[in-house]
Amino acid sequence: MDKLIIHGGKKLAGEVTVSGSKNASLPIFVSTILAPGVHEISNVPFLRDINTTIKVLETLGARVEGNGNVVRIDTSRVDNHEATYELVKTMRASVLVLGPLLARLGKARVSLPGGCAIGARPINLHLKGLAAMGADINLTHGYVEARAKRLKGARINFDVSTVGGTEHLMMAAALAKGETILENAAREPEITDLAAVLTGMGARIEGAGTDTIRITGVKELGPVSHRVMPDRIEAGTFMIAAAITGGDVRIHGMQLEHLDALVFKLQDAGVEITNKDNVVRVRGPRKIKSVNIKTRPYPGFPTDMQAQFMALMCIADGASVISENIFENRFMHVSELLRFGADIVIEGNSATVKGVKRLSGAPVMATDLRASASLILAGLAADNTTEVSRIYHLDRGYESIEKKLAGLGADIQRVKE
Ligand code: EPU
Repeated sequence: MDKLIIHGGKKLAGEVTVSGSKNASLPIFVSTILAPGVHEISNVPFLRDINTTIKVLETLGARVEGNGNVVRIDTSRVDNHEATYELVKTMRASVLVLGPLLARLGKARVSLPGGCAIGARPINLHLKGLAAMGADINLTHGYVEARAKRLKGARINFDVSTVGGTEHLMMAAALAKGETILENAAREPEITDLAAVLTGMGARIEGAGTDTIRITGVKELGPVSHRVMPDRIEAGTFMIAAAITGGDVRIHGMQLEHLDALVFKLQDAGVEITNKDNVVRVRGPRKIKSVNIKTRPYPGFPTDMQAQFMALMCIADGASVISENIFENRFMHVSELLRFGADIVIEGNSATVKGVKRLSGAPVMATDLRASASLILAGLAADNTTEVSRIYHLDRGYESIEKKLAGLGADIQRVKE
């Protein structure tokens, strides 16, 4: 197993380029099941979760070839309707194949994903939506078995805003008979990117990016070429890396408008952010000010930036309250941040962070993807040496993060444990 060794205290400076989005790529890859033919997806990040998605597609009968960041997916011969526990437990997003397989083959058998480090993460709303579209669904032996001759359009109102649920039903509805209306739909930019892919395949979708999405089903879809949107969470993580080290970093290839909620909070914290010719310059102040955040569905403050923002608040002037409203157990990084000398108290879904003068480097353990990022950020700001172990979580979602940070002057190395 690899670990990262960080000698903290260096101000980051220079240029860094953001990779394609993990959370956009996953459903886009899955959506190719809907349209037989050869798809070309570019700006794909090199990540473990992408490899897992490729494995899932290959198991279903697709042929996948990669060339740099371009991936060609031939879905002409998708004929297997089953995604096993082995695959789904490795990556929850694999469950999104259920709807597309059902739409393409009329049947699907997909393992239920089970729990996750950050929360229970049920898929009840995905299943309820597919049932409303006429799927016959049974849960047996840990698997969802679904059948439908042809899905039919339905009006679906989500109880809670769900990114995966919205993506899943949008894909299924693309080939359904008649119109589907998704109400209280999630509005994340990754959903808009998926809608662009589906539209490129010939789907009829209106309103993606708003809370009401209308999909008029078509009989068949064709292959598509698409460039994946930039990873807004990776970009946000670099913004905080600049802020926490008092650095001066220029970020290329990001879409700043996807991160408005973060930008406002960073500005409140005293961070200077400018955008010129699509290069975002982030300058950390001498002293970070404390600010409160509440995670919310997009366009609110992203839960995927909560752990990293908390690392920043650990060295702020004063106390901040961080409330997590999306996942019930997304404070796993807190006990590790305490090892740096941070002062954090959790009560229910809120953490009160009292800024300390400085963090002191420590051996820590990553527990999930964004927690790993927050520990790296703390390590960059801390004095002495930090060792972050169990970084396989990090490899799921950040492309070459240690190389990119080293390129900005961080003293960070990957070593074998
Ligand atoms: N929920 C339900 N029932 C459902 C679906 C969701 O109760 O059927 C609940 C969840 O338990 C959660 C909330 O609704 O409390 C929101 O979950 P959502 O479905 O929006 O999350 P997701 O689609 O499983 C995606 C990202 C996550 C990100 C969340 C929220 C991907 C592959 N994953 O998950 O990304 O945190 O949206 O923005 O897109 C990450 O990248 O580190 C990550 C965890």
